[in-house]
Amino acid sequence: MPQAAEAPRILQAAVARIPNPPSAAAPAGAGDESNVVIRTVGEPRTFPFLPLGPGEPPAFPHFDCFIAPESHTFAFKGLIDCNWLQSLEVGIDPVHTSFLHRFFNDEDPSQGYGKMFRDTSRDSDMPMTQIMREFTRPRIEVEPTEFGFRLVTLRQISEASAHVRVTNLMFPNAFIIPMSREMTISQWHVPIDDEKHYWYAIFTSFGEPVDHRQMREQRLQLYELPDYRPRIGRQNNYGYDIAEQKTRTFTGMGFDINVHDLGSTTVKSPFAVLVGTT
Ligand SMILES: [Fe+2]
Repeated sequence: MPQAAEAPRILQAAVARIPNPPSAAAPAGAGDESNVVIRTVGEPRTFPFLPLGPGEPPAFPHFDCFIAPESHTFAFKGLIDCNWLQSLEVGIDPVHTSFLHRFFNDEDPSQGYGKMFRDTSRDSDMPMTQIMREFTRPRIEVEPTEFGFRLVTLRQISEASAHVRVTNLMFPNAFIIPMSREMTISQWHVPIDDEKHYWYAIFTSFGEPVDHRQMREQRLQLYELPDYRPRIGRQNNYGYDIAEQKTRTFTGMGFDINVHDLGSTTVKSPFAVLVGTT
């Protein structure tokens, strides 16, 4: 992690306010606005966090996205018309990427700044889109941690090399995933109600400073101000194009993987079937 010349301004607050999943019983005090107090001590660099419940909030976590210099982070959000748990599940799932986000042809990785799965794998010339397309049955190792769990997903791309994707889930509603060789995404899925939520993400560069202007322009192509509502969704059939589906993409929903994820989480109902039977 690059070090700033001066101590970075750390957002000193507490944990986000998180309602329960819709099927769970609400604890006493949940939804009671009177217990919500913004405990920001330092200058917020990205967005504020609120403490839950009575007593002193726990120490603020030292995630990379909080301690990185401002030049190396970029924050954005987006509205999704489904329960937060559906999007969280998609965010941590390391296999749907081989299907839902499958492109039949690879773009030039050098033109993929700021986009998911457009880079090459580290120490490899193989574009991520090719790895996702050709290695559909990765080995997944699950490591319980004190903050949630960690998924290590291995795609053996040659006899000597494996592509490794590390996903950290911070219970209950946040994860950190890689976006490219240089950037990670720290993302929170925060409920508005049972059927809507916002995702809040901090993109963090471990290399060059972030191109804030390009990152923002890219995301504003999909998300419309002032509500950060996606321009593509249920209302226009997710931009579905059958000709594209036959020749260029698995879904026919264009080349922004956020649209694919929106389709998978919101197309049928604000609630998906979250619990199955064995
Ligand atoms: Fe996805």
